[in-house]
Amino acid sequence: MAESWLVLDAFGDARGGDAVRRALRARAEGLGASLEMLRLDAMSIAPCRGCFGCWTRTPGVCAVDDAARNITAALAQADVLIVLTPIVFGGYAPALKAAVDRGVLPTLLPHFQRLHGRTRHFARYEKTPAFVAIGLLPGACADMEQLFAGVAARNAANLLSPFHASAVAYAPMTQESVEAVVAGALDFGKESMPASARRIVLLHGSPRKKHSVSDGFAAYAGKTLNAAGAEVESFDLLGAAQDEEAFTELAAAVDAADGVWLFSPLYADQLPGHTQAALTRLLAWRKEVPPRRSQRFSAVINCGFPESVNNDAALAMCRLFAQQAGFAWLGGCGVGGSGFYEGRSLEALGWFGRRARAAIERKAELFVAARMPDIAASVDIAAPCPVPAWLYLLFAEWGWKKALGGKNGARDSHARPYARQAT
Ligand SMILES: Cc1cc2nc3c(=O)[nH]c(=O)nc-3n(C[C@H](O)[C@H](O)[C@H](O)COP(=O)(O)O)c2cc1C
Repeated sequence: MAESWLVLDAFGDARGGDAVRRALRARAEGLGASLEMLRLDAMSIAPCRGCFGCWTRTPGVCAVDDAARNITAALAQADVLIVLTPIVFGGYAPALKAAVDRGVLPTLLPHFQRLHGRTRHFARYEKTPAFVAIGLLPGACADMEQLFAGVAARNAANLLSPFHASAVAYAPMTQESVEAVVAGALDFGKESMPASARRIVLLHGSPRKKHSVSDGFAAYAGKTLNAAGAEVESFDLLGAAQDEEAFTELAAAVDAADGVWLFSPLYADQLPGHTQAALTRLLAWRKEVPPRRSQRFSAVINCGFPESVNNDAALAMCRLFAQQAGFAWLGGCGVGGSGFYEGRSLEALGWFGRRARAAIERKAELFVAARMPDIAASVDIAAPCPVPAWLYLLFAEWGWKKALGGKNGARDSHARPYARQAT
């Protein structure tokens, strides 16, 4: 039997909406699906009263008698629910939101169940529809796209949909590009890029040439990404901040990449000056030629003090950079007690390196995930110093003493070469 697709269309007369509608009709025709398109701009749907009457007084039927009842009735019969909406604050347009509030709740039961560790309702009907959300934007906006994908995934989970997908079309896109977006969404991600085709750029933020902790972390991230099938290319930010040609090469690689991962030390509670300079130039580059693809960004910042919380401001700055430069922010990792990692690979640290390794592995998964990771996964991960602070500081003192030991006896760590002269 032909699949039945129910479309809740909140595009109204938004620019680019007709191209999506045409693509959808062509796709349904090609696949032999029956299509019921409900134009929400032509329907009058009152806001949800929040009375739960659809669960208590008239189970399965909304207490308010208007067009939303037809949506619930159509939904009970549909194999696929497709929502079309201009993206508003990363979510749905008001007309669609009201239709979802009023139309969907009656298709669920009030009773709760636990599914995959989360609380959900039971479905009222035997079969629940697959869920596809197609959003429309005037141009690329990683923040909005990431939130839209997350919201669609959550709606699908609450609907108990067997499959879900989301996609975003941009108003100026050609019909051909829109068709590819729509086809990709209706294929439920089957045609999405496999991890093996992903290209990730690693940015090295430490100015140290030998034994930098950042480089050690980047090496582990590179291996993890390679093992997942992704291609990795590395760039030195100090070189890029100082050399025009090196910067252009880096910027072009970033444009062509699916993801960018920064590894940097913490200097005076922020990123080092040259890292800040390279990111500022990269932002200007990307403003001039805005990216047309969905790209991801993360950062691993390490600091000398044992408390990883010291990295918070630098990670927040990385998030703002990502937002302004059109990347989806995957959340970062803040590592404390960097002295512990110096000169040793993360693997060689065994049990002691487990938290830093786990944090890097978690973010590597987000880089290669076929779907845009949910915002819940995009939080910062803290990897605190692997040993108690007092022990770390004891070793640190010993390390400074050793380093002060020069050839001709110990140098004075308390020297005051610029002290005011007594008069
Ligand atoms: C100029 C400078 C400023 C620093 N500021 C901080 C800081 O504010 N907080 C902190 O915990 N560590 C600070 N550190 C220590 C570095 O973050 C630490 O040595 C780091 O591991 C170096 O990383 P790398 O090996 O990747 O270069 C600073 C180091 C330098 C050289």
